[in-house]
Amino acid sequence: MAKVSVTEDAVLEALRVVEDPEVRRSIVEMDMVRHIVIDGSKVDVEIVLTIRGCPMRSVIEDQVRDALLSIPGVTMATITIGTMTDEERDRFATKIRGKEGEETVSPLLQADSSTKFIAVASGKGGVGKSTVTANLAVAFARLGYRVGIVDADIYGFSIPNIFGIADVKPAVVSNLIMPAQTHGLKIVSMHFFVPENRPVIWRGPMLGKMLRNFFQEVHWGELDIMLLDLPPGTGDIALDVHNMLPKSLELIVTTPHVNAADVAVRAGYMAQQVKHDIIGVIENMAYYQCGQCGEKAYLFGQGGGEQVAQTLGTQLLAQIPLGEIGASTTGLFAPESLQGEAFHELAMTLADRLAMQPSVTV
Ligand SMILES: Nc1ncnc2c1ncn2[C@@H]1O[C@H](COP(=O)(O)OP(=O)(O)OP(=O)(O)O)[C@@H](O)[C@H]1O
Ligand SMILES: [Mg+2]
Repeated sequence: MAKVSVTEDAVLEALRVVEDPEVRRSIVEMDMVRHIVIDGSKVDVEIVLTIRGCPMRSVIEDQVRDALLSIPGVTMATITIGTMTDEERDRFATKIRGKEGEETVSPLLQADSSTKFIAVASGKGGVGKSTVTANLAVAFARLGYRVGIVDADIYGFSIPNIFGIADVKPAVVSNLIMPAQTHGLKIVSMHFFVPENRPVIWRGPMLGKMLRNFFQEVHWGELDIMLLDLPPGTGDIALDVHNMLPKSLELIVTTPHVNAADVAVRAGYMAQQVKHDIIGVIENMAYYQCGQCGEKAYLFGQGGGEQVAQTLGTQLLAQIPLGEIGASTTGLFAPESLQGEAFHELAMTLADRLAMQPSVTV
């Protein structure tokens, strides 16, 4: 049988199908392939990643190996994984952003983006928006969705603390911010950008700009769903979110007390005024369920969630019982807890409403 001689072009052609799982662009196109050495039927390549310890490392490695071994005449492939130099990273970032200096719109904000946005809102503070955002995000990730969280509470950020990652500093690749990754999802919060315990002192326009940066300057990769944890009430930031994300859906959180319900309705009215669809209402801290007898105690009253849903013409999607958050260092409920199960159900209900299918097999 005639020997097939393997060429560099054939190697590059085969590798073209391998995508960087983060940016969803070919590793050839993104100049991530270097040092191709062909020795008869043996091929050695080096692939460079943006950051050391990239979590996608083994995924890329496997795909590169498969691609190389699919080339006729190749029987052995060795893959070395390296890290980009600063210049390579600059070029990489420029390619993702588009041309240097050119105003680019984040792929997530483009009209044809398939990412679903859900803003978690409430009329007043402390009802559990951030807790709902975080636990719902984890439930979606567990179902196999690619999830991002924007902590849009620029003054009162709490998402990193809920996830127990307050010490994390996200990597910055040539001014492109890599979101923090934990629990299988991606997070950006103002917390990561302010020196410890310093208050955020910007006003209106700066806040809007920061929020836009959370999309524009952050390399999110592809996401199925993006949750936004809004600050309480109906202020500037909520309005900025509404303006920036015309397709965003709104999830209203309330407590079961009927007085709280009136306030929650206001957040809903605001969403309606800016033509955002309200996808439903979550009643948080709905009741306490005794672990021994299973009996429910309605410590904060009853009926608030149903009342908000009716007033806004939407549905009460979940009632999250009061639970012990302090059991761990995070604000996340264990998956097998009553609350964990309620969030799992909620994620399934929302996915169904949004006709979404998981992207990842879990
Ligand atoms: N179902 C629950 N069971 C027990 N504690 C809860 C529950 N939901 C929230 N909490 C606790 O209530 C407090 C307020 O919750 P959270 O910070 O999520 O509210 P928020 O609406 O985001 O507040 P803010 O308006 O300040 O942003 C937190 O200490 C949180 O741990
Ligand atoms: Mg909050």
